Amino acid sequence: METFQALLARKVAEALKAAGLPEAGGVTQATDARFGDYQSNAALILAKQLSENPRNIAQKILVVLDLSGLCEPPTIAGAGFINFTLRNEAIAAQTAKLLRDERLGVARAETQKRIVIDFGSPNVAKPMHVGHIRSTVLGDALARIASFLGHEVIRDNHIGDWGTQFGMVIYGWKNLLDRAALERDPIAELVRIYKETNEKATSDPKVREAVREELVKLQAGAPENFSIWKETVDLSMKEFERAYQMLDIHYDIQRGESFYSDRLPAVVERLLKSGIAEISEGAVCVFFRDIPELAEKPAIIRKSDGGFNYTTTDIATVDYRIQDLKADTVWLVVGAPQILHFKQIIAIARREGYTADFRHITFGSILGEDRKLMKTRSGENVPLRDLLDEAIQRARKIIEEKNPDLSESEKIDIAEKVGIGAVKYYDLSQYRMTDYIFSWDRMLSFQGNTAPYLQNAYVRIRSIFRKAGEEFTATRELNLTDAAEKNLALKLCQFAETVPTVVNDFRPNLLANYLYELANAFHTFYEACPVLKSEEPLRSSRLALCELTGRVLAKGLDLLGIKVPEKM
Ligand code: ARG
Repeated sequence: METFQALLARKVAEALKAAGLPEAGGVTQATDARFGDYQSNAALILAKQLSENPRNIAQKILVVLDLSGLCEPPTIAGAGFINFTLRNEAIAAQTAKLLRDERLGVARAETQKRIVIDFGSPNVAKPMHVGHIRSTVLGDALARIASFLGHEVIRDNHIGDWGTQFGMVIYGWKNLLDRAALERDPIAELVRIYKETNEKATSDPKVREAVREELVKLQAGAPENFSIWKETVDLSMKEFERAYQMLDIHYDIQRGESFYSDRLPAVVERLLKSGIAEISEGAVCVFFRDIPELAEKPAIIRKSDGGFNYTTTDIATVDYRIQDLKADTVWLVVGAPQILHFKQIIAIARREGYTADFRHITFGSILGEDRKLMKTRSGENVPLRDLLDEAIQRARKIIEEKNPDLSESEKIDIAEKVGIGAVKYYDLSQYRMTDYIFSWDRMLSFQGNTAPYLQNAYVRIRSIFRKAGEEFTATRELNLTDAAEKNLALKLCQFAETVPTVVNDFRPNLLANYLYELANAFHTFYEACPVLKSEEPLRSSRLALCELTGRVLAKGLDLLGIKVPEKM
């Protein structure tokens, strides 16, 4: 189903051709309803190119532009913008089509790609904390949207389950472990032994040496060290799984760093052989002398002590994703501190001749009310599990106040959807590059651009249908008599224009903003237009708008990984 935006763009392109003008620009949604519904700046672009008066060019375009049936006669505004106002009948017809379309008008991408998305990717023997929300929630939303657009998505959890920290963990396990504490809270105990070992190693060279030996033994495959390592990985994975369950996050594969460990020697040999890497001061390095921003920043891929590192692992990861998984595209949803690291990885991949599209999708930090990185009162990272539990508890309290008559099982279900939804939505509704302040009051508010506000709009719609006590049957025809009806219907048609834009620059906040505007449009409609009390054919037409709004809200939120309750 062609969107209005695409249809108008096509019509303008045809008109340009007919007028003997070159191609120019597209058509955008109008930013201000006073100027109509859509806008083209083709005349302005061409005026520059052809050194002609833009209004004259706009005039030439209008002469050959045939939009009868679709728009009111287009107008020229300002310096030479062409403004389009859709006819109510055209919007009504498109809306009626949407009602019968499972995809709500959203087309599949023209070229379907195989996309590996690396997101979440927490580290073993460390708790998942508030900082992991962004990568996890953002990656999940992008995966959902890319799949909906028809791409083949492979969700990969690149767990940090290998590396030098395991020398500490194993030393701590052998010398400091409190078994009872491990049973009570495995991650907390792992963190404790890691920290204590680290402190001891800093002050005591003998411990430092012992830690190093434990690591060497692990890398050499010594059975005791291997089984300790395995146990810490299993304990951590259990913990991660619990968070994923609460967040409704699923992975297709979880290839941790350890998966690549036996491929690292060959990676280094290969890069040396091809001349991409060289030996420098006993280490194997890749220099980027031709890339100004990396010129001073060589990547070490084998340390002078012979050890491999995070970079070596990521080079092996590129091989696997391209050669084995056959990815066309790799999306790396990892925070901004790793920008340099991935620039190096991508530069190496290019030199190796990989042509796949790599995108490092970065994001800002979550701050506490004091505008510093969010921490607990004692200065620790806030464990994700505690945070999610608190979200649900707080949501429960609000629901308890708003609607005490709900059954216990309904309350449990709603509190989960609202609490988790609030945390996710608050994150996704921000522009990903900006830091944001974590605020319970704002994310759980029923007013403003929040999950509860959108969920509540959905619930209101469901309650209309419960009140009506009838199954919805799609009408063939809609009557858009009131401005609020037209406005709502047009918004519904624009869902299909919004969803694809999210993956252009990885901005789920565009979808969030759209849903917020849709909920507002619904609200205005609902205030202005009686639904159940109106006469036919208006009644059916309005019910159809309600139905479609509910479906778009639910689908839009689903694409963000957020569930909707039926009541709240
Ligand atoms: N475990 C890493 C961290 O917590 C993130 C891994 C990202 N993915 C990758 N391929 N390096 O910082």
